[in-house]
Amino acid sequence: MKDLGPKPNELDAIETASRDEIAALQLSRMKWSLSHAYENVPMYRNRFDKAGVHPDDLKDLSDLAKFPFTYKDDLRDNYPFGLRAVPQDQVVRIHASSGTTGKPTVVVYTRNDIDVWSDTLARSLRAAGLRKGDIIHNAYGYGLFTGGLGAHYGIERLGATVVPMGGGQTEKQVNLITDFRPSGIMVTPSYMLNILEQYQKIGVDPRTSPLQVGVFGAEPWTNAMREEIEAAFDMHAVDIYGLSEIMGPGVANECVETKDGLHVWEDHYYPEIVDPVTGEVLEDGQEGELVFTTLTKEGMPMIRYRTRDLTRLLPGTARSMRRMEKITGRSDDMIILRGVNVFPTQIEEQVMATSGLALYYQIELARAGPMDAMRVMVEVDSSAVDEVGRSALGNALTQRIKDMVGISCQVDVQMPGTVARSQGKAVRVIDNRPKE
Ligand code: DLL
Repeated sequence: MKDLGPKPNELDAIETASRDEIAALQLSRMKWSLSHAYENVPMYRNRFDKAGVHPDDLKDLSDLAKFPFTYKDDLRDNYPFGLRAVPQDQVVRIHASSGTTGKPTVVVYTRNDIDVWSDTLARSLRAAGLRKGDIIHNAYGYGLFTGGLGAHYGIERLGATVVPMGGGQTEKQVNLITDFRPSGIMVTPSYMLNILEQYQKIGVDPRTSPLQVGVFGAEPWTNAMREEIEAAFDMHAVDIYGLSEIMGPGVANECVETKDGLHVWEDHYYPEIVDPVTGEVLEDGQEGELVFTTLTKEGMPMIRYRTRDLTRLLPGTARSMRRMEKITGRSDDMIILRGVNVFPTQIEEQVMATSGLALYYQIELARAGPMDAMRVMVEVDSSAVDEVGRSALGNALTQRIKDMVGISCQVDVQMPGTVARSQGKAVRVIDNRPKE
């Protein structure tokens, strides 16, 4: 793998600023953002009034804890434009996330919001080791999803060349990578596995691909998966995080030179970690739910938005801004199996650690009498393995999950190509339990 990493003069000044400088900027921006929300969005005004707080009460960053949280349901309840903080004629873009139930959540952006987003995404790509002059294959979905267009504008802002491929058509993805010779790819890690499979199908060694850096996100993935992708393609795999409510991709990104968690671009997106049950603010280093407050967003400011993503905040390393550890999972995706909390990422780690298995997996939950039962569906990595071999692999994974995760489950080792493939964000859990 190529040695990549920035030269100091390529960074934005704030990326290497002192913590005091960062905090001073955050405080002045946070005051603006709270006032902007209070003055222009009735929901925030009502909430703040009810809680007996006013934007003027923010004297210090820690005073943010006095302000009420915002939840995904607030976006649904104010569908479509109830949280807009600027007149309609200042809105230049709308995105929406479909969600599995109910109304989509809608977000709006001003010209300046798109600029900030593009800047923070360009910063993310630079952190990942990409530069002006690189060709970047963008396989995040275009449309209402923020992945495609968000990445697209960021790539252009970096001065790199964007290949606006979008999701799907795996065969064409590989053809274009072969012909256009991009050095970077942006795609969900689970879809990258489909691209890998396509290389294998056509008998081309993926290590001969031109790709040097993959910027993977939009779903949880493990360091074990990183190692698999890096080895398969002989490329760097770095993590990009974001969510539409706050902006889109590029709220936080890993640095290629350290790969030790994602630096949060906290000059625009202010993070807190709270206890998911009590809402109490936790110290840096403690695991809990990630909460964001936008500091510069005009179209739709978000104050203390509860992401439901679980992680912890760590001090800066390659940059001064704090890091968030790789996301363990979303609180909604947590499986409670006979009293033990399990995240799909914990199962992923064990699948990756079992040699002889392919990298595809899915988890099925069912109700067996009064108890919940979990079935893990995986594949062998070669069709030459017979039933006896598959059953031995199944036993090995069952034992691993029991030893490392602490739960008993059934493992089905299937033939190659049988586990459902990701079309973008992977569906890791199929919940067949009766709805209560
Ligand atoms: O997924 C934005 C995005 C696009 C991020 C492309 C990165 C790359 P939403 O559709 O609103 O936005 O989904 C946001 O996806 O709250 C997390 O649960 C999850 N997520 C996003 N990035 C990561 C990541 C985009 N790197 C939700 N690791 C978030 C784990 C992630 N989960």
